[in-house]
Amino acid sequence: MRMYDIIMKKRNNEALSKEEIDFLIEGYTKGEIPDYQMSALTMAIFFNKMTAEETLNLTMAMANSGDMLDLSAIKGVKVDKHSTGGVGDKTSLALIPMVAAVGVPTAKMSGRGLGHTGGTIDKLESFTGFRTDISTEHFIEQVNRIGISIMGQTADLAPADKKLYALRDVTATVDNMSLIASSIMSKKLAAGADAIVLDVKTGSGAFMKKEEDSFALAREMVAIGNGAGRKTIGVISDMDQPLGRAVGNALEVKEAIDTLNGGGPEDFKELCLTLGSYMVVAAGKAADKEEARTKLSEVITNGAALEKLAEFVEAQGGKREEVYNPELLPKATMVQEILSEEEGYISGIVCDEIGICSLILGGGRETKESEIDLSVGLVLHKKKGDYVTKGESLATIHANDTDKLEAAKKRFLAAYTFSGQKIEKASLIRGVVE
Ligand code: URA
Repeated sequence: MRMYDIIMKKRNNEALSKEEIDFLIEGYTKGEIPDYQMSALTMAIFFNKMTAEETLNLTMAMANSGDMLDLSAIKGVKVDKHSTGGVGDKTSLALIPMVAAVGVPTAKMSGRGLGHTGGTIDKLESFTGFRTDISTEHFIEQVNRIGISIMGQTADLAPADKKLYALRDVTATVDNMSLIASSIMSKKLAAGADAIVLDVKTGSGAFMKKEEDSFALAREMVAIGNGAGRKTIGVISDMDQPLGRAVGNALEVKEAIDTLNGGGPEDFKELCLTLGSYMVVAAGKAADKEEARTKLSEVITNGAALEKLAEFVEAQGGKREEVYNPELLPKATMVQEILSEEEGYISGIVCDEIGICSLILGGGRETKESEIDLSVGLVLHKKKGDYVTKGESLATIHANDTDKLEAAKKRFLAAYTFSGQKIEKASLIRGVVE
């Protein structure tokens, strides 16, 4: 088999066989196929697309390119959750303890953030001493003992995807549906869960800006998951404005704790209950979504979900008292209100821009090596459809540097648009692909 012939075949818009896909992924992972040939192939895929069968074969080949985590030592049906990423997306911080408190074993691998969307691992490190660089043995033992663990992604999980994603990133071939779906799903399949609930975001702060593209991506990923024998569900949710109100690591942790205490923003709570009910049903811990929702609401009301978070934080080296007293979490030195310069209904928020404000303040990473400031960020008081008067506070900004504060504030104000007309509030959950 020759890579040249495979490139030619895809260039001529023919489907690749499983053997060809296995050959090219194995060769590329081992360094036997050079980047220039792989770039030519990804560009041909970009234009000529892949069939569902090719996409599944590509996903399996990438999942099998490194370690496949074996979670069989954990009792029960393991359910994983994945978000395609967004601004203020702290869902796992509240959702995972909620689901674990209902009795679903949650063994989750998470990543760090790069750019304007934060990673769960970074957010969790707001707890003093919290560690995610734990061994697989520790991870499995902890899930069997307390029902919950989140560890950082190991380097040898789907290494083919790691290499290919980096190549796509610099050759303008990221945004092909099959390549995105196989990239995400290869890591999910390698992470070993029996069932997967996907939160596919849509809107200005999401990877997929258009709703029809988000549905198409969800359908593609659900087909891969089910094709690989893992029950997979895709929920399409709004990311046309930040989720909840807090954007920034420790601020998001505080918002997740508020939510587990029975407070928190309505949209955030609703997303946790929706995703959670699919997870609980998939794990066989409730007969239907309504029963699952009742159980999830109960663990908020009776404090079991918050206690599960405290147990989890303590088991991974963190301080449980910070869960019960979030005032102890990292705090910025400067806290100011951002006052509206206009009056009217908020007709739009350029969601990405709010993420970039947090990045400017130091809350995100410009490069993989950047240190992040856990204490900074924003708490939004006004969102789409709300009415504001001139001089009213749109948000509170938390900063540690005056220049950064001013730059973020300017950018924040420019991200809001106003209208004299009343604006319909968009629905949070746009649909479900099962
Ligand atoms: N996230 C991934 O992991 N891969 C992609 O291709 C796009 C987003």
